[in-house]
Amino acid sequence: MKFPFAEPYRIKTVEAIRRTTREQRELILAEARYNLFNIRAENVYIDLLTDSGTGAMSSAQWAEMMLGDESYAGASSFYKLKETVREILGFDHFLPTHQGRAAENVLFSTLIGVGTEGEGKIVPGNAHFDTTKGHIEFRKACAVDCTTEEALHPETDYPFKGNVDLERLEKVFGDFAPDHIPLCILTVTCNSSGGQPVSMANIRDVSSLCRAKKVPLFLDAARFAENSYFIKKREAGYADKGIREIAREMFSYVDGCTMSSKKDGLVNIGGLLCFRDEELMRRAMPFNIMYEGYNTYGGMAGRDLGALSVGLREATELDYLESRIAQVARLGAGLEGYGVPVLRPYGGHAIFVDACRFLPSVPREEFVAQTLAIEVYAEGGVRGVEVGAMLADRDPCTRENRFPSLELLRLAVPRRTYTNDHMDYAAAVIGSVYDRRDRIARGYRITREAPIMRHFTVELEPAD
Ligand code: F0G
Repeated sequence: MKFPFAEPYRIKTVEAIRRTTREQRELILAEARYNLFNIRAENVYIDLLTDSGTGAMSSAQWAEMMLGDESYAGASSFYKLKETVREILGFDHFLPTHQGRAAENVLFSTLIGVGTEGEGKIVPGNAHFDTTKGHIEFRKACAVDCTTEEALHPETDYPFKGNVDLERLEKVFGDFAPDHIPLCILTVTCNSSGGQPVSMANIRDVSSLCRAKKVPLFLDAARFAENSYFIKKREAGYADKGIREIAREMFSYVDGCTMSSKKDGLVNIGGLLCFRDEELMRRAMPFNIMYEGYNTYGGMAGRDLGALSVGLREATELDYLESRIAQVARLGAGLEGYGVPVLRPYGGHAIFVDACRFLPSVPREEFVAQTLAIEVYAEGGVRGVEVGAMLADRDPCTRENRFPSLELLRLAVPRRTYTNDHMDYAAAVIGSVYDRRDRIARGYRITREAPIMRHFTVELEPAD
């Protein structure tokens, strides 16, 4: 007899969460100027804003936090982490950083340059994450998105929508000399295309193209374990391989990686910058020391390094990944059960609701996905995040609003934090908004906005 799958952990500590009334939430929204980042977490019932740094650590991780010493140089937890990085990721050399974007800053300072040294340089990849793109553009270099066309079709079940379109990448390599391409970066899973995986075959092909051109290839490995799981489940030849074996093969094709360990490192803060080549790491060290801290702690405390060394092992256990991905899929299936249009296939860390199909009457100029995020919070205290025109910001030259091809509401699921009942609740809340969608015809207009990264601090008012 086949038993249903259950979580491979039990709960040892709980944190109370509180429900509010609709009247309270309407007041909270108005006080927050309709920006969900301005809402206090204590006023959120189910917080699906991000899966970053919001997961629950295990008792083994907490225990490890007490074991290490807090030394400026050569802490024991650094050496434990070094062992784990070698074993799980296959890199002999790494620098700790305080989070993922810090690793990007150190790597890009080394390979692209500082100040405006990036002018005329190109960094191809698959839908670079916002901070990755930000760090590239800050240096006046250009991030070129070579993601497969398949990613533009939210309804199709193409299994690897994070893949790079090899023809597009070849075109970039044809149009620019290799000395204008300081690196290529592949994000696994690809957050910006909906938490979608990249296949092993695609990583291998991108790697051969990069090697032929002598362009370093780096992974943005924030969700490498979830990517490995999808390869096991979806790619021919990998069903019988272990997660760690798959992860090591993925990393074997690249020259290094940046990693926000707040995701698949299962810790609340931390990052990694790994290298195959010791010389390259040595070039990065002065930047790490200047921006982050000495090379054996980076931006982390010794105890955080210890928790990460355990987290990387736990995140690559099949049972954990099975329940993690199943919980996200439960949210997706729950939403589809209410008829809610979501991006398919379901992402590894999040479900993305297709806001234009959900609210077809709201004009794009009035921020459709943001409107949906506000309605969902008002309905039941569930917080998601807008991935649409607000996030896309203004064109730096024309200052006109940019309208991306999709308006999405991302519901990111923190790791080991909520139960399946919470997923069912969130789906029911959104289903209830869907039932009254015909009565939502107007969105919001901006009353205050910052010149860059406006979505974090923007202030809004209802458009009608
Ligand atoms: N790369 C990817 C793919 C990410 O998703 C993130 C963060 C980063 C880099 C930057 O890492 O936050 O540790 O500095 N993503 C979070 C999110 C913020 O909500 O998706 P960080």
